[in-house]
Amino acid sequence: MDWEKFVDLSVTDAPRISVTPPGPRSLEILKIQEELEGSAVSYPRGMPMALARGRGATLEDVDGNVYIDCFSGAGVMALGHAHPYVLEAAHGQLDKVTHTLDIPSETRMRLVKVLGRILPAELSRVFFGGPTGSDAVEQAIKLARFNTRRDGIIVFEGAYHGMTGASLAATSDSGHKDGIGSLTPGFQFLPFPYRYRNPFGCPEEKVDEFAADNLERVLDDTHSGYSKPAAVLLEAVQGEGGTIIPGPLFLQRVREITKARGILLICDEIQCGLGRTGKMFAFEHSGIVPDIVTMSKALGGAGFPISAIAFREELNTLPPGKSIGTFRGNMVAFAAGAAGLEWMIENRVPEYAAQLGEKAMTRFREMEKGSRILGEARGIGLMIALEIVEDKKTRKPAADLTKQLRKLAHQRGVMIEVGGHHNNVARLLPPLVISEAHLMKAADILEGVLKDLE
Ligand SMILES: Cc1ncc(COP(=O)(O)O)c(C=O)c1O
Repeated sequence: MDWEKFVDLSVTDAPRISVTPPGPRSLEILKIQEELEGSAVSYPRGMPMALARGRGATLEDVDGNVYIDCFSGAGVMALGHAHPYVLEAAHGQLDKVTHTLDIPSETRMRLVKVLGRILPAELSRVFFGGPTGSDAVEQAIKLARFNTRRDGIIVFEGAYHGMTGASLAATSDSGHKDGIGSLTPGFQFLPFPYRYRNPFGCPEEKVDEFAADNLERVLDDTHSGYSKPAAVLLEAVQGEGGTIIPGPLFLQRVREITKARGILLICDEIQCGLGRTGKMFAFEHSGIVPDIVTMSKALGGAGFPISAIAFREELNTLPPGKSIGTFRGNMVAFAAGAAGLEWMIENRVPEYAAQLGEKAMTRFREMEKGSRILGEARGIGLMIALEIVEDKKTRKPAADLTKQLRKLAHQRGVMIEVGGHHNNVARLLPPLVISEAHLMKAADILEGVLKDLE
């Protein structure tokens, strides 16, 4: 495979920082935003700048600084910015038709067909419910509830599923939920197999088994406080929770446990899906097939808003009009998404992500050994995390240091995300087409910042 050509998608001599961000033009634009937009705006606080253009795994701000993008707009830009093949498809669609609700078109069917090529055969139906990931989660929950005529949904500590009614109720972070009134009822949380911050006190290598046993226990104990739920909803690799990667056993056991009890399994692949972990879907690492899958982020090819669920034939019971919405499919996103997925398949992008991710992890694990504050480097494919601690023995989370890591990395030309239970996980979600040279350069810069912070 000619992966060398991925190099040409980006600005090769990035990063190039000519003025410490935010530069003067950025400051002017940030000031307008500060004065006119709502106070919940968040990313420019961690990475203050205004953006001008992007190419591949590189982004340029309005002051001419060029960054290595290890953030991808929170995992959206899997094929990088301004991907020529994807944009050609999007431009072509713009001149034809841009909005059709769910009336079919060739473009829409092109995406449906390419999804059929990447999804397991058992997930034979797709549905487009709304433009965002949260919409897909809402649809998945609705479908599970309607089919089982049960209400409960079991979710996990560290989960992030969205910002709307049910998807927010399924999200664990109280920071997102407190102070805004009552949430959709029916959601109960269980501990996730988070090896580094083991919630079970068991040997670390047993954490997957303990987490699955715990699920089985609450389902079978009539005094656990858990009634039989409609579904178990999880991320095969948790994203915002801190890139938490269970072993294959966990998902295999969850699949067995849910199947045996007639409970549906929903895998939220909005962040970890579509090549990110080195396979098209993260659940494939465990060899299981869920009942419902959610997709969004990379699905729009180049950041166009779209989301979908895929599900088993026997769940295809919603009567026409039971689930509607104005933006049930953005035609430009369909065109870009179909072109993007076809390009991904043809160029074996998930395989590239797996191989490059392994090389990067060798580098990051070395960094972990030599660092006093990098508690753990973990990753799967190009979903990589550096958990920052005050002290490697106590593992005390260091949120302030992580914030500074992001700030200094940005000033030196690398964009990263911050997440985790304690906001102490530096997260890398680069475009899957990032070159090895750019990723290693980003690692060098992060290592330099870590040294300076120690
Ligand atoms: C796993 C997961 N599910 C759902 C969502 C919500 O998607 P959106 O922000 O598009 O509503 C996200 C967003 O980060 C996510 O990571």
